[in-house]
Amino acid sequence: MEKKLSVELPPKEGFTPLCVPEIRGNEWKYVKECLDTGWVSSVGSFVERFELEVAEFVGARFGVAAVNGTAALHIALLVAGVQPGDEVLISTLTFIAPVNAVRYVGAWPVFIDAEPDYWQMDPSKVLDFLENRCEWRRGNLYNKATGRRVKAIIPVHILGHPVHMDRILEAARKFNLAIIEDATESLGAKYRETMVGKLGDVACFSFNGNKIITTGGGGMIVTDNEEWARKAKYLTTQAKDDPLEYIHNEIGYNYRLTNLLAAVGCAQMEQLPSYIAAKRRIAAAYSKALEAVPGITPMPEALWAYSTFWLYTILVDRSAFGIDSRALLRRLEQAKIQTRPLWQPVHRSRAFADCGLFECPIAERLNREALSLPCSVGLTEEDLHAVLQVLISSCESNQSRRFAGSSRLKSETRD
Ligand SMILES: Cc1ncc(COP(=O)(O)O)c(C=O)c1O
Repeated sequence: MEKKLSVELPPKEGFTPLCVPEIRGNEWKYVKECLDTGWVSSVGSFVERFELEVAEFVGARFGVAAVNGTAALHIALLVAGVQPGDEVLISTLTFIAPVNAVRYVGAWPVFIDAEPDYWQMDPSKVLDFLENRCEWRRGNLYNKATGRRVKAIIPVHILGHPVHMDRILEAARKFNLAIIEDATESLGAKYRETMVGKLGDVACFSFNGNKIITTGGGGMIVTDNEEWARKAKYLTTQAKDDPLEYIHNEIGYNYRLTNLLAAVGCAQMEQLPSYIAAKRRIAAAYSKALEAVPGITPMPEALWAYSTFWLYTILVDRSAFGIDSRALLRRLEQAKIQTRPLWQPVHRSRAFADCGLFECPIAERLNREALSLPCSVGLTEEDLHAVLQVLISSCESNQSRRFAGSSRLKSETRD
């Protein structure tokens, strides 16, 4: 039997990791301030400062901090009024968290395919589903096949690149649906001139260890809707209706980020622009060196997009490259380089086998072909060069000889 790959584990000693945090600013100083003053829990000035800074960066009116991105998505679904039994359109090519959050509120995901060019939720399939599979009844939209009310769309901006939003936003207006952006992977990305997180009704970010900025674990809800922001804060803090008498009129959650972690977040926010610049530099170096390698598609960026290239990912076409993405992963692993495939499309997970799906062949192909490469903010030029060397020398197509070990690679990746 084939050996299981351990890509979720921390990289072994001596490995070039896939994507690790960069802690080089005021993190120690701000955390020490919390420890010295005793403000370690969820009440403390760093939590509010972090909320303000993330909201301001995105251009949203309000930010509400949460313990992680999944909790933020859970709360965003609640404030958007998604009810048990509703349906929510969601990208099938995503990390599982937003789909789990849909089930936490008792709603049902309807999986939408990725488009082939930028690998994001396909707007034409969203429209096709809404126009041809749904009908109006008493002022609400219903899925004709399941009889369930369709309430919201969750576009997931994956890998640092935005979803093509125009037609999705238009459809949401036309069909009266809430847009909950899963922007967890794309803080700092822009759709046209607008920041991701400012496009829909409410958006969520994650600050887990591999994200562009991290608090170890953390999340944020951003919105322009004052009532939703107030409700989000209320729900994340145990839904207290009287701060003294412990009166609760609704079920709440213990989801608020601690001051200690928010302190790390504030320090990380100070460095975010330089992290985005580093990610874009790494991406440019990879793309330039890989653009002519047979069978490799470098990570794309649409003309209408500003990508952070949070997780630099390539496609490997076996027939043109000579080996497939998983064989390439093993070659890189032998060279002590950690890489990772994209997620199995969620509609294929047994946990979601009874949910609706709307033809998802592109996500299946992307799952087979995609491979994410080391792209930490602190990736050295030597590491990047080592990854490229293995990648290019692994090309087993007939046209590969002129790439392997060529001096062209060296000059291209060093400028
Ligand atoms: C697309 C997506 N959504 C949601 C999450 C959940 O965030 P967290 O891990 O902070 O709960 C993540 C990442 O972790 C993610 O990649």
